[in-house]
Amino acid sequence: MSKLQRIDKILSNMGYGSRKNIKKIMKKGRVTINGDIVKDSSKKIDPYYNKIEIDGILIEYREYIYLMMNKPDGVVSSTDDPINNTVIDLIDDKYKIFEPFPIGRLDKDTEGLLILSNDGKLAHNLLSPKKHVKKTYYVEVEGRVDSGDIEKFNDGVILEDGYKTMAAEMDIIENDDISKVYLTIKEGKFHQVKRMFVAIGKKVLYLKRVSMGNIELDKSLETGEYRELKEEEINLLIE
Ligand code: URA
Repeated sequence: MSKLQRIDKILSNMGYGSRKNIKKIMKKGRVTINGDIVKDSSKKIDPYYNKIEIDGILIEYREYIYLMMNKPDGVVSSTDDPINNTVIDLIDDKYKIFEPFPIGRLDKDTEGLLILSNDGKLAHNLLSPKKHVKKTYYVEVEGRVDSGDIEKFNDGVILEDGYKTMAAEMDIIENDDISKVYLTIKEGKFHQVKRMFVAIGKKVLYLKRVSMGNIELDKSLETGEYRELKEEEINLLIE
């Protein structure tokens, strides 16, 4: 589908300066479209089908970026915060210019998979309560969990505000004074996992998201690290 946009808008959205600056650069004949110098910054082109170069350097056009981060403890999942460091503070300027935002929040002390993107449609699809996108968490819990707890989560538990959760699946990895489990939920209420454990009389000591929809956290990412999603991962998320 053809999408005509002003050249100054395209370049400024991609971080090549303000529209005023782009106008100046273009006036100087530094921008070519399909090899021809274009001086009119208001000219409309389809950035997907036209070759844009500045000073002979090809501009690789893209509208959306998709990042996978292994969120560390101690940073908040928002775009700005007056007190805390945010996940956006952790990413490179070359991505910041696309104005990505976290798709779904993790608590300040929760680690693990966070998708950052500027694709509002994807955000809607992943976060809409109607879509029931699965999220799996690795959880360390104080005390022993048992098959009764698995059943309780499967039936849905009543949170302290009276809300009954949807069926959730718990797999026990280790059962000890500190138990280790995977919990998969299909909704995303505030502090949901922690509150679900409170509902069965237990306390979460450590929480890490390991998957969201069809995407798994890349195990090679250390906490605080991130990478772009691969084409096939983006397709998995979108499908
Ligand atoms: N549930 C929680 O309690 N916290 C999170 O960060 C994510 C899910």
